[in-house]
Amino acid sequence: MTEDNRGYFVTFEGIEGSGKSTVARAVLERFLQAGLECIITREPGGNEISEKIRELLLDPANTSISPRSELLLYMASRAQLVGEVIGPALESGTSVLCDRFIDASVAYQGWARGLGEDVVADLNSFAVAGTVPDRTYLLDLEVGDGFERGPDRREAEGQRSRDRLELEKRAFHEKVREGYLRIASREPGRVAVIDASRPLEEVIEAVLRNLRVLRGLKKL
Ligand code: TMP
Repeated sequence: MTEDNRGYFVTFEGIEGSGKSTVARAVLERFLQAGLECIITREPGGNEISEKIRELLLDPANTSISPRSELLLYMASRAQLVGEVIGPALESGTSVLCDRFIDASVAYQGWARGLGEDVVADLNSFAVAGTVPDRTYLLDLEVGDGFERGPDRREAEGQRSRDRLELEKRAFHEKVREGYLRIASREPGRVAVIDASRPLEEVIEAVLRNLRVLRGLKKL
């Protein structure tokens, strides 16, 4: 727990195929093994309303969603998740691990789609109303690697087709990676860049090592 008895809020970010979901689940296991209260959630999604918004956003048939509308749908999903799940959990002393959060909108919509990082940051502030991550792990990987891992992951999950965002061209994903690295260089205190090209165990250990410096998390 943090000094004011709130849980820790930790987010995982990265391009498609960076392994962030697997790493987040492994970190959850370590929290629970250490006897710490912790939940995991994801964006967009994590509650009934936001999962409906997720379907809208990722459906490959929805080619007519405009960039601004897309941005606001991500924000609506985020506001709902913070109000319904993340905020109450943190207040009750439970730590929250979230697979993507505010930085995804800055990297994807703000930088890669060109809507503007500052505009997105302002909307993020409104949507989360002060609930910002204590730590963010940017699992950094070259776009080529991510794209190679993508089909394997989909196969493992029994999915056949790419979602609307995965269908974007490689140049878009290069921009997303660049957007993420820009955030990390602006906020080195919150965002740790983790080299995700290493074996999974090493990536997980790098995240845990960084978390152990926080009060109450030494036993992770
Ligand atoms: P996922 O594949 O990690 O579940 O994420 C869903 C997709 O949504 C992924 O392509 C990234 C994208 N996304 C955004 O474009 N903006 C956002 O704010 C978030 C949270 C996700």
